[in-house]
Amino acid sequence: RTQPEIYKIGFSQCTGGDEWRKTMLNDMKRELTFHPNYTLLYEDAGNSTARQISQVQSLVDQGIDLLIISPNETTPFTKVIEAVFKKGIPVILLDRKIKTESYNAYIGGDNVEIGRLAGTFIGNYLKGRGRVVEVWGLPSSSPAQERHRGFREELRKFPNIRVVKELNGQWERDTVRHVVASELKALKEADVLFAHNDVMALGASEVWKQNGLQHQLDFVGIDALPGPNAGMQAITNGVLRASFLYPTGGEEAIETATRVLEGKSVKREQILNSIQVDASNIRALKAQSDKLLAQQVDIERQSQRIDKLTETYTSQKNTLYFTLAS
Ligand code: FRU
Repeated sequence: RTQPEIYKIGFSQCTGGDEWRKTMLNDMKRELTFHPNYTLLYEDAGNSTARQISQVQSLVDQGIDLLIISPNETTPFTKVIEAVFKKGIPVILLDRKIKTESYNAYIGGDNVEIGRLAGTFIGNYLKGRGRVVEVWGLPSSSPAQERHRGFREELRKFPNIRVVKELNGQWERDTVRHVVASELKALKEADVLFAHNDVMALGASEVWKQNGLQHQLDFVGIDALPGPNAGMQAITNGVLRASFLYPTGGEEAIETATRVLEGKSVKREQILNSIQVDASNIRALKAQSDKLLAQQVDIERQSQRIDKLTETYTSQKNTLYFTLAS
């Protein structure tokens, strides 16, 4: 009997340090347990475009059959990914985009739409009048550009809402803490701080609290990740006024990768749904996602158990063969 072919999937991650991306990797690994003839080669670029480019090269050198990539920045990766694609290695873009048609599938949320949803929420929350600080993710990455575009588009419907300051938080909590601390004046004048992700909104709110600022400032972010210390919990605690679910797409990426490698058809643009999370729906959503998290832990435990059993079975089988043969 011939063994099934073993495929190597390379995954190049722009950074692996935050909870959202750890969740993405877990989502991938869980899906991989259903596809035993696939292995994952994983590289984490730690926010460095140069490092990520050389990691892509090293994945190609290791003979990957397919590349999944979340490119740190848009422009520098266009040529790199075109070259991989031209070699006949299928490419799946995850969460962040590039400016070329050289890919098999894009999987991610609709970031322009999420920006619009944030604009609508803030416009209505402020009853059409107020001042906003916008904290950007890395400006050269596609989700930041698209979230900004959608947000501003929507705010045009509210002529009495002004964005008084734009800050560059580069998606990172620590960067935001520095940037915001040097812009306290702008913060004092604002009614709402909108950050392109939750960790930045939370970082800003920490600075706000530490400086003992008195006037009301509301924080809005994006991701709405379940689990302790993340967006959903912050909405429950009243630290964030609202956030928007941004699914990781990890599971879909693996599923799509297996379909591509097995010659099946795939949808080229796979846009994952978002939803506004605020005081009105947080209880139901949190109950649901807590349950899902618990089930995922069960699945992971079961698959570890199966691995152990397989190991025991293999070694017993070998002993048996040995005994019969001697
Ligand atoms: C995580 C993250 C998320 C954000 C996404 C955008 O690294 O910053 O918070 O939604 O990347 O690419």
